[in-house]
Amino acid sequence: MRHNGSDIAAPALTVAYHSGFGHTAVLADAVAAGAREVGADVRVIALDRMTETDWDALDRADGIVFGSATYMGNVSAGFQAFAEKTGRRCIEGAWRDKVAAGFTNSGAKSGDKLGTLTSLALFAAQHHMHWVNLGLPPGWNSSRGSEDDLNRLGFWLGAGAQTDVDAGVDQMHASDVQTCRHLGARVALVARQLNVGRSATSAVSAPAASSAPTR
Ligand SMILES: Cc1cc2nc3c(=O)[nH]c(=O)nc-3n(C[C@H](O)[C@H](O)[C@H](O)COP(=O)(O)O)c2cc1C
Repeated sequence: MRHNGSDIAAPALTVAYHSGFGHTAVLADAVAAGAREVGADVRVIALDRMTETDWDALDRADGIVFGSATYMGNVSAGFQAFAEKTGRRCIEGAWRDKVAAGFTNSGAKSGDKLGTLTSLALFAAQHHMHWVNLGLPPGWNSSRGSEDDLNRLGFWLGAGAQTDVDAGVDQMHASDVQTCRHLGARVALVARQLNVGRSATSAVSAPAASSAPTR
């Protein structure tokens, strides 16, 4: 049996983020736009004003892209408050085998953002989710590179963005926004591939009705 995925529903993704001052929110919208461009059904969730419908969407999603501003070299208190509210789901494995990925924004060029991305990846691992890396080579790392390169800050684990601390949300770096758009598309593609694979696996492993054991 051949599976090209054409019969598989668009993956349902959520982008779950915390942003104190709005910069990380711009990235969340970019992740969502990238995922929608490749056909995903996307819901963006601001973690500081979640509704029951948002929790339902997280539980139903094929994948969750987590985003947090970098505060003190780690996820924000707002993100961590959300993470701790998922304890029961973690124990019950409610999000097991969903796809996951992450993004962050900070004021300094490095800003210890790797701490934030690592925390997001650990959080996903504790939920037994499948972490999707950024999938881009590092940009701006040679004499031919420029700050307009995708992945200009050179992350592998997820998408890292930088915004001057006195810059408004309309001054986000275009490369960072595009990098997040790329991440959204990549996660949607991986979620779709997993859905197709699961469909093919169940088609192979499920016995045909006529040949099912009768005893
Ligand atoms: C409490 C606090 C801690 C911060 N810690 C860091 C940090 O560790 N590294 C850094 O580069 N920027 C740090 N910043 C700057 C923020 O990362 C930066 O302003 C970012 O754009 C905020 O994103 P947001 O608008 O989504 O909240 C900190 C800001 C605050 C308010």
